[in-house]
Amino acid sequence: MGTALITGASRGLGRALARELVRDGWHVVVDARDADALAAAAEEIAGEDGGGSVTAVAGDVADPAHRADLVRAVDGGLDLLVNNASTLGPTPMPKLADLPVADLAATFATNVLAPLALIQDLLPSLRERGGAILNITSDAAVENYETWGGYGSSKAALEQLSNVLAAEEPDVAVWWADPGEMNTAMLRAAGEDADSAPPPEEAAAAFRRLIEERPPSGRHRAADLAAAR
Ligand SMILES: NC(=O)c1ccc[n+]([C@@H]2O[C@H](COP(=O)([O-])OP(=O)(O)OC[C@H]3O[C@@H](n4cnc5c(N)ncnc54)[C@H](OP(=O)(O)O)[C@@H]3O)[C@@H](O)[C@H]2O)c1
Repeated sequence: MGTALITGASRGLGRALARELVRDGWHVVVDARDADALAAAAEEIAGEDGGGSVTAVAGDVADPAHRADLVRAVDGGLDLLVNNASTLGPTPMPKLADLPVADLAATFATNVLAPLALIQDLLPSLRERGGAILNITSDAAVENYETWGGYGSSKAALEQLSNVLAAEEPDVAVWWADPGEMNTAMLRAAGEDADSAPPPEEAAAAFRRLIEERPPSGRHRAADLAAAR
């Protein structure tokens, strides 16, 4: 196995995927803004059997100084970058007519610009090691759900960045993937019925298989990956 960086891994999908990879023997570097929650999650993840290990680096992916800390944490080489940390923007989510553009800019800073900045910093190592990038997107990138326009347009931008990156970087596998609805804090914050959604462990297991099977660059849905078992 190798070294993976997963952003946003103190809870939800990021934590579940970090657990899967540590079980498979990966060294996983994780971040989140709340340092205490991240430390608790890292301790729990490190307790998984499998021989992997965890390094926690607290901070905000939108902060260039924190991104520099992440790059330093993986300076021995990186095999997998998972851009998972994400924001909905203001909640309750307003219609586009009422969405302050400054809030949209902040949403893009976290959901689009930070992933691209990390990709730019880490591509030399990923190219050299034949690594992979997994950008977590959403069906909101392609559907026209009312009030999801700010978040959805940021995920659409992340999808198209991924699509072009895949054409430009033949030595790196670039996947952009919709996990589907998951019972997480984010779905609750969106005002949806999170309790009736599947746990993030299901999408994490599907993405673990994606990483293991290493298909060519492209878009994936966790539901399709699970159905293909
Ligand atoms: N839940 C769903 O139904 C659903 C559906 C489709 C797509 N997705 C996507 O799936 C991914 C995971 O979502 P989730 O539901 O697991 O979310 P979640 O439970 O809210 O977890 C988000 C994680 O990211 C961290 N985070 C948020 N903003 C950050 C920032 N600026 N810098 C660093 N860390 C940050 C959070 O910790 P802190 O708050 O402490 O920073 C937390 O660890 C996201 O990309 C989301 O857009 C989710």
